[in-house]
Amino acid sequence: MKPPVKIKSPFILSLLLISFLFSCSQPRQGNILLTDGWKFQPGDNPSFSSPLFNDSSWEDISPLDLWDAQGHADLDGYAWYRIHVNIPSSLKTHAYFKDSLIIFLGKIDDRDQTWLNGKPLGQNGKTVSAGTKFPDDIPNGGETWAVSRKYMLAADDLRINWDGENVIAIRVFDRGGLGGMYGPAPYISMRDVGDYVTFNLRKEPFMISRQVNYKKIIVLNNASTKDDFDGVLSVEVINQENDRVIFSETTTTHLKAGKALRHSISFINVDTANCLLQCSFKPEKSKNIITANVGAPYILTPPPPASPRINGPRVYGTRPGHPFLYRIPVTGERPVSIDVKGLPEGLKIDDNTGIITGKILRKGDYPVRITARNAAGTDTATLLIRAGNTLALTPPMGWNSWNVWGLSVDADKVKAAADAFLSTGLADHGWSYINIDDGWEAPHRTPDGAITGNEKFPDFKDLSGYVHSKGLKLGIYSSPGPYTCGGYLGSYQHEFQDAKTWAGWGIDYIKYDWCSYGKIAKDNSLEELQKPYLLMRKALDTVNRDIVYSLCQYGMGHVWEWGATVGGNLWRTTGDITDTWNSMSGIGFRQNTASPYASPGHWNDPDMLVVGWVGWGPHIRPTRLTPDEQYTHISLWSLLSAPLLIGCDLTRMDDFTMSLLTNDEVLAVDQDPLGKQADKVYVKGNIQYWTKPLADGSWAAGIFNLGEGKEKINVMFSDLKLKGNSYEVRDLWRQKNLGTFHKGMELKIPSHGVVLLKITRGV
Ligand code: GAL
Repeated sequence: MKPPVKIKSPFILSLLLISFLFSCSQPRQGNILLTDGWKFQPGDNPSFSSPLFNDSSWEDISPLDLWDAQGHADLDGYAWYRIHVNIPSSLKTHAYFKDSLIIFLGKIDDRDQTWLNGKPLGQNGKTVSAGTKFPDDIPNGGETWAVSRKYMLAADDLRINWDGENVIAIRVFDRGGLGGMYGPAPYISMRDVGDYVTFNLRKEPFMISRQVNYKKIIVLNNASTKDDFDGVLSVEVINQENDRVIFSETTTTHLKAGKALRHSISFINVDTANCLLQCSFKPEKSKNIITANVGAPYILTPPPPASPRINGPRVYGTRPGHPFLYRIPVTGERPVSIDVKGLPEGLKIDDNTGIITGKILRKGDYPVRITARNAAGTDTATLLIRAGNTLALTPPMGWNSWNVWGLSVDADKVKAAADAFLSTGLADHGWSYINIDDGWEAPHRTPDGAITGNEKFPDFKDLSGYVHSKGLKLGIYSSPGPYTCGGYLGSYQHEFQDAKTWAGWGIDYIKYDWCSYGKIAKDNSLEELQKPYLLMRKALDTVNRDIVYSLCQYGMGHVWEWGATVGGNLWRTTGDITDTWNSMSGIGFRQNTASPYASPGHWNDPDMLVVGWVGWGPHIRPTRLTPDEQYTHISLWSLLSAPLLIGCDLTRMDDFTMSLLTNDEVLAVDQDPLGKQADKVYVKGNIQYWTKPLADGSWAAGIFNLGEGKEKINVMFSDLKLKGNSYEVRDLWRQKNLGTFHKGMELKIPSHGVVLLKITRGV
């Protein structure tokens, strides 16, 4: 179905920015590198394309960084780049292909026309192929700013002046914002194997079983339509901590034109450390080696014991008189019998499933003693059920469709996610919400104004029944504006009716996304920012159901300062996340400003998780975060008491992703009943310490390394802002006591990685 209106979402904007920050590649061996010697002039004049034009008075500029970073922050519109370069015919001597020359110019923000020695070489961002005027419309349906400029010319092309001076002139037009040339480094070379052959190490993720057996398919693409290539494929896996070679293999390989070679490797890795897979392809008769590398995941989380373990929060909020649903999360070998004592009047438990249902009649605190038993042992825990005014007494944990399916979500995918919560065991670790994001709404309301699902969501009652029967909760999405960010119907002027409809469907969670409300709001005043959220709060208060209220407006007006007063249970503090280090770390490590405002029932939301297979649409792929970045992501979000919403395809979980999402000691940091958010207590260079006080009087501490190299550091308790001298320290990912330490301890932290600790005052 085609949405009626397309609104550019902040998600798209942040994605564009991130992909730009991450675009880089290695210049090729034996080329003419064009990193120095560029001249630059703002403005526009046709004579600038001429090789005879004298540009000696122009300023110098680097082609690796945008002009904004080089003294032209406010420049929008036209500017020119020029370079003079000798192209020696000796380039051809050792070339693999002697017939064609490549001129590679990196990326240009956002449109350009390029001349070689006064003759047009190419253009990007024009809707017509000739002429010198840049149209101001959106270019060819795409964003040209993110695309590398690469031109191939026959070696006998008369535009090339072999063994003499050549002038490359680039006329750039920037529509606004950042502008100009930027990395990767420009070069000139002969056509080579590397123009066709590339590794794709992310297409197939590592598969790990029993913590130590690794398998991976290495994909090597040959994009040439004509040429096969022979060469040597080398693969090595190296422990980054001690340089130990874990696996090494060299094979001669034949790459067929237009085909992808899939090469399987398997090895045993007992190191449980940060390891790197390095691949190279050395083509026969070419100097250029094609290389790529990717981090190998390693599993720190020990498998749960055979005996029962009661997981999930220790406090749970509900409103009296509303339907109650809670599935007690328990791991351990099945069958497990669950027994509860002290259930308040109106609630009952199904002993086989551990699902509590019913309705609490009166306000109050009800401590419920849970006992779980199986053949291997027993576990007990107390869950405090608080029947009062506040929901989400610990941050919601669940799944949301957006980061994986985007607008292509449908009811079957949602059911599959609910099934997977049970079949993978995620539900036994406390994951409970199954949330549908944008893309469920029909294009028109019914004649009486009711919203309905589109053809992908034919029956919400059926769907919620399905999800609830498993003891899970169902969430939905809307906008206070007339349209959602994906262009579907929003709740504008139908707030009370929609809240009633959702409650009737059995909805347990609503994400309410600003989107087109920007067109309704009179201005950016606090009053206008709060108005639509207060209105939906009122509407939710009229329905007879516990519906967790998630505000999504990207942090406007410091929402963390007032999200609770408009009745939100959580509020997004940022624009949309994507699966890159810059995005995840940029968002996560900035959350300290909002820290004082988190409390039970009121959470800062730094957006959903980007581990596993994600994609924001029908085509999904493994996350681009490295394994250590994923440890950082889950550790930081847990320290931040962030809502944990898995954003991946739950039917495609690998052991590593599962291990990230099922470490009960790490999740307990997020779910700690005290409900404090971690503070950034120490920063030195790339090292940051974040600490969070826990209900039992201990502390969770994340020691993060944001730098590009591994670090060995002496962590002093005083730098963690802990007053005592002697502490017991536990490694939460490994679930292992490290011992008692005085004053501090030495830790090794991988690049972009973390050590997550629980620190308890020594006796
Ligand atoms: C964005 C929002 C995303 C997602 C999307 C749906 O504004 O931040 O999380 O909900 O809209 O269109």
